[in-house]
Amino acid sequence: MSQLDPAALSGVHTGPLRAGERVTLTDIKGRRHTLVLEVGKDFHTTKGAVNHDEMIGRPEGGVVTTAGGAQFTVFRPLLYEYTVGMPREAAVIYPKDAAQILMWTDIFPGARVLEAGVGSGALSLSLLRAIGPTGTLHSYERRQEFADVAELNVTSFLGGTHPGWTITVGDLVDEIADEPIDRAVLDMLSPWDCIDAVAERLVPGGLLCCYVATTTQLGRVADQLRYHGGFTEPSLTETDVREWHAEGLAIRPGHGGHGHTGFLVISRRMAPGVDAPMKKRRPAPAAYGADYAGPVPRNVLPEQLAANRQRSLDDSDQIAPAVKRALRRHVDAQRSIHPADGAQRAQPAPGDGHDE
Ligand SMILES: C[S@@+](CC[C@H](N)C(=O)[O-])C[C@H]1O[C@@H](n2cnc3c(N)ncnc32)[C@H](O)[C@@H]1O
Repeated sequence: MSQLDPAALSGVHTGPLRAGERVTLTDIKGRRHTLVLEVGKDFHTTKGAVNHDEMIGRPEGGVVTTAGGAQFTVFRPLLYEYTVGMPREAAVIYPKDAAQILMWTDIFPGARVLEAGVGSGALSLSLLRAIGPTGTLHSYERRQEFADVAELNVTSFLGGTHPGWTITVGDLVDEIADEPIDRAVLDMLSPWDCIDAVAERLVPGGLLCCYVATTTQLGRVADQLRYHGGFTEPSLTETDVREWHAEGLAIRPGHGGHGHTGFLVISRRMAPGVDAPMKKRRPAPAAYGADYAGPVPRNVLPEQLAANRQRSLDDSDQIAPAVKRALRRHVDAQRSIHPADGAQRAQPAPGDGHDE
């Protein structure tokens, strides 16, 4: 493949299906099977087989039927389908979050992007597509075996190597190259350890996104950015995508689950030597209390910090018995309403469920 053909570098192919290409077969229930087309080979199902020759040379969007009558639509896989199905060594960033990252970090064609860690390369693929053939992506990964899987996943989807993609194996803080970067995305357990190193290379106005899975990481990275000073107040978000079912007058949310994936922490780099203005306000009670061991933002004054710590110590002595008494009163009140626990609860009327 030509290394500078933008369409080829996106991993998108058009025209009739060719041997060696990946296709996705989807049955009537939405179950997907991905395979690589080979002349003369069969795709086997419990309802008989389909020969790959029935797909090679045909346009996408066809339907193949097995001997047992099972029908499958035939399409080339989209990027998001590929990333959720490809081999993985580490958890991947899911399409709903990758989509948010591209928009909120304003990734653009020609951008110089830093990414760590690479994991299985799912986000690398989205970033490479967004920066196009003229952009550069420098990806860092601590573990050689993960970097190998990522490289295989990415080159297999693109059909070759992207001229602007480099993977460096090692810890980001130790290995970070001395080069300007427009955008940085950190997906790792402790992104706060890398903020100083990234800040030194991020151009003024550049964006940093940290993708974290837990609330404790969310708080830690937000406070580290405030503590650093050279970043704007971070935006902290979580994305939930809900599917819907629409059939005539039966229009309702789908039955799919809404599992938590992660949070995005996004912030912009200030000019060199310029600290971001911060709100002058007292921290929330006990926000930086005696149990807090992380970085303290610059707008928390020493006397506020001392008061906050003292308050949390006082509270731990005094509030617990009060809470216990309040709970006891609540439980007693509930008992007087429902003397035999559960006996007086309303029973659902027949047909009162959500049967379809
Ligand atoms: C959850 S995975 C990344 C998944 C990836 N974003 C994707 O979408 O496929 C986190 C990776 O970060 C790597 N990692 C953690 N800390 C690192 C560091 N300081 N420098 C480089 N890589 C790091 C881990 O080895 C792991 O592979």
